[in-house]
Amino acid sequence: MSFHPLIPYGTDRWHRSERVLLAAGAPFVYTAERAARLEEICSQYPPEWRKSAVLAALYLVQEQQGSLTASAVRHVAEFLRITPADVEDVASYYVMFFKAPVGTYVLQVCRTLSCALAGAERVTESLSEKLGLKVGETDASGMFTLLEFECLGACDRAPVVMVNNEHWHERATPENCSKLVDDLKASGLPALSGCHLHVERRQG
Ligand code: FES
Repeated sequence: MSFHPLIPYGTDRWHRSERVLLAAGAPFVYTAERAARLEEICSQYPPEWRKSAVLAALYLVQEQQGSLTASAVRHVAEFLRITPADVEDVASYYVMFFKAPVGTYVLQVCRTLSCALAGAERVTESLSEKLGLKVGETDASGMFTLLEFECLGACDRAPVVMVNNEHWHERATPENCSKLVDDLKASGLPALSGCHLHVERRQG
């Protein structure tokens, strides 16, 4: 049956679920220190709004094991006294929660308008070539993952590449991103000392 002559009802396009199922993963519980941190965050909300700590809870999972798993989602749900579906709803909405294992350094190139106009595509292509990765892939050594991201709110310093959800490498170019990769390989996190977060912290 067709309700509109130009809309292809009945094709796969209308029946395909975009939902990404998380891998089961190893049994997960927070370390005692992280459980205490999360309990402290929960205590800032009324008991019936314990679920307000769900973003913090998911960040703590990621801090502990790098990415989300179904097992971790169940643990978060138990901890916050909500359902796994409630946790998954939040996790699937936000791109900063990784749904599969990622490398030590996650390079996230902003692809929204300001960055796109300032050359983000060229940055992505050059990183892709340099790392031998397509967007969404992690290299065999587990060192780098390349992703695209939406606006980071630093449009005046576009294009922006965020590393590990935290360090903003601004006014990115193919050349300075190539150097960033080399520096990360050579010296690890200290290579990010010129990123926005660190500059702001130094300025107090
Ligand atoms: S468009 Fe990239 S930071 Fe806003």
